[in-house]
Amino acid sequence: MARLKGKVALITGAGSGIGRAEAILFAKEGAKVIVTDINEEKGQETVKEITSNGGEAIFMKLDVTNPKQWQEVVKKAIELYGKIDILVNNAGILISKSIEEMTLEEWDKVIKVNLYGTFYGCKFILPAMKRAGGGVIINTGSIMGIVAYPNEVAYDASKGAVRILTKAVAIEYAKYNIRVNCLCPGNTRTPMNEPWIKDPKLREEILRPQVIKRFAEPIEIAYGALFLASDESSFMTGADLVIDGGYTAT
Ligand code: NAI
Repeated sequence: MARLKGKVALITGAGSGIGRAEAILFAKEGAKVIVTDINEEKGQETVKEITSNGGEAIFMKLDVTNPKQWQEVVKKAIELYGKIDILVNNAGILISKSIEEMTLEEWDKVIKVNLYGTFYGCKFILPAMKRAGGGVIINTGSIMGIVAYPNEVAYDASKGAVRILTKAVAIEYAKYNIRVNCLCPGNTRTPMNEPWIKDPKLREEILRPQVIKRFAEPIEIAYGALFLASDESSFMTGADLVIDGGYTAT
């Protein structure tokens, strides 16, 4: 039995890495997937992969830092499908620099995509979910919102904020049958991590706290998102789901 049969899911940053794996998995489980990304070409590649395997997906261009685009995309999605059952706020960026080297513009950019992007997603989708009688939001935190990593000040701060934003939305919207949880991946084999995957010294350093000594594959994170999106997690809200190879256990 498909676990997301009849559901409509909107995923941000679904042109690459974890977001792409989530889009493909959700479609396999019967969801109609609205693949969004700032990068149209990569988003379309995800759609093609889904539809060529018999799944249902469409692409909508969305820069998560743009509130106007958010409103347009939500409106278009509702016109098309009548509802959005699942939102995955997945889009995120990382700029790795020391606090003193990081420019004010770089700080703003990371906070804008990771934190404002997640806030906008919640804000603009909640009215539609309320009207529909419920929904599920999955925000994407990180182990770097639980513990800090050197040279990632804006990223760490944004992800810590996403975790508590998740709880704030969850407690306000439980009465509307809307569940909101935070998926916290550990080190995953995606383009975001390329420098650490390529360089043996950096790799050794970043994997040191983990007890499972490898990068996660994106699908291993997507399975967590699927659990949070499905009714199997019906008693879960305002919580973190940490999938990190034991990184934060040590
Ligand atoms: P990725 O770099 O492979 O993919 C990110 C996607 O987001 C890209 O398709 C990109 O075009 C899109 N994007 C960037 N800026 C955007 C914007 N303004 N609006 C819309 N889309 C935008 O990244 P990855 O690794 O798949 O990360 C996905 C999420 O998981 C991010 O929130 C990241 O912080 C989080 N995460 C990743 C971890 C990892 O080890 N890869 C670990 C913990 C969390």
